[in-house]
Amino acid sequence: MAKKIKFQHPTGMHDILPHEQRHFRRIYQLVEDVADFYSFGRIDTPILENAELFNKGTGTQTDIVQKEMYLLKSKGGDVLALRPEGTPPVARAYIEHGMSSRPQPVKLYYYGPFFRHEKPQAGRYRQFWQFGFEVLGEENPVIDAQIIQISYNLLSEIGVKNISVEINSIGDKECRPLYRKALVKHLRSNSSCLCNNCKRRMKDNPLRVLDCKEEKCQEVKQEAPQMVDFLCSGCKTHFKKVLEYLDEIELPYTLEPHLVRGLDYYTKTVFEFFSNKDEESSLALGGGGRYDYLINQLGGKETPAVGTAFGVERLAQAIRKDNLPSTKKKRTKIFLAQLGESARKKSLRMTESLRKAKVSIEESLGKDSLKAQLARASRIGARYTIIIGQKEALEETAIIKDMESGKQETVKMDKVIDRVKKLLKE
Ligand code: HAM
Repeated sequence: MAKKIKFQHPTGMHDILPHEQRHFRRIYQLVEDVADFYSFGRIDTPILENAELFNKGTGTQTDIVQKEMYLLKSKGGDVLALRPEGTPPVARAYIEHGMSSRPQPVKLYYYGPFFRHEKPQAGRYRQFWQFGFEVLGEENPVIDAQIIQISYNLLSEIGVKNISVEINSIGDKECRPLYRKALVKHLRSNSSCLCNNCKRRMKDNPLRVLDCKEEKCQEVKQEAPQMVDFLCSGCKTHFKKVLEYLDEIELPYTLEPHLVRGLDYYTKTVFEFFSNKDEESSLALGGGGRYDYLINQLGGKETPAVGTAFGVERLAQAIRKDNLPSTKKKRTKIFLAQLGESARKKSLRMTESLRKAKVSIEESLGKDSLKAQLARASRIGARYTIIIGQKEALEETAIIKDMESGKQETVKMDKVIDRVKKLLKE
């Protein structure tokens, strides 16, 4: 006999079941509200992109590209990647659709699934949901501050507690090489105290050593030179301005001199958001920064840009932990019951009319027994039940039953919606 196969979700991926949806829905609605208010236009890019987009954009030296991309070869021989993040696809779309000729800045947001082949653990998935806001075509530091402000306010509206913002500047192509040199010098003279990964990073991507979580590397990290001391005058002024704007709006932040972020395209401002940062397992809820070279690097004109992105599972987890008060689905007040085949057909039509009239109902179209249907109506706490029996179907009428008093009235089929609406208002 053939062996029975038991299917499970792929490792690191997960189902979001109906009872878990309320947090996700809440986050989605707030993101849409914020996007509307600040005039961000929604963009949906394909789940698959040419892998080269991330090699060039995210960076060949990053963990995302080196270890975490899901790659596949199309029948035509193209190497495609399941998108691990949203910024390079947005930059690609900006170039491809000639958005540089529109009034600048162009403000875009996205919300969808992303994929990284990471080691699964709490808050780290191989398929996760992310939303992001990107402002393309504006270099003024006020936009960096505004992106941080939008992110912060969104998190508090979502219900995240104890939010902290860490911020740093990682300079630009003028000043970063000098810092890199000083950092490598420091790392070289302490290389015996670094983990094996960092020994490799020291050569390929030394800034990433500052991101290492290994206990062994912490001391070397702490004593490392700080980027702020190497900023050129342009980057220094930019950073100072961002901080001034944040002070102006009294947004609390912490300067984190070794914050570098794990993606290669950043310049100047970088930031990350946490909740309850003091807890050991605390993962970033979101992060972002400025990426003034990315669009040019991908073949577009020189275009300054800044953005942010958040992991929806991590946000849902943060508000679940804080026991966000439930925003329960509104109780359905009307139940639609039917008896017999012709009544079932009428009910099918009636359901659609009720939906169009925005009267929310529950029904059990597949059930035959009226008794069972009425029992269900009581169980869900329906205020009224619309009953269509064989006689009613024939006479184009329906019975409206008051579930509290038990009183019934017969109404012409085309008057049912008006009558029900009136009853609900009483
Ligand atoms: P990121 O820091 O790689 O930045 O990801 C942003 C957020 O996505 C993280 O803070 C985290 O909440 C969530 N996230 C990332 N990986 C996972 C995972 N494996 N499981 C669950 N959640 C995850 C970016 O992606 C940049 N594109 C952000 C940006 C936008 N920079 C400029 N504009």
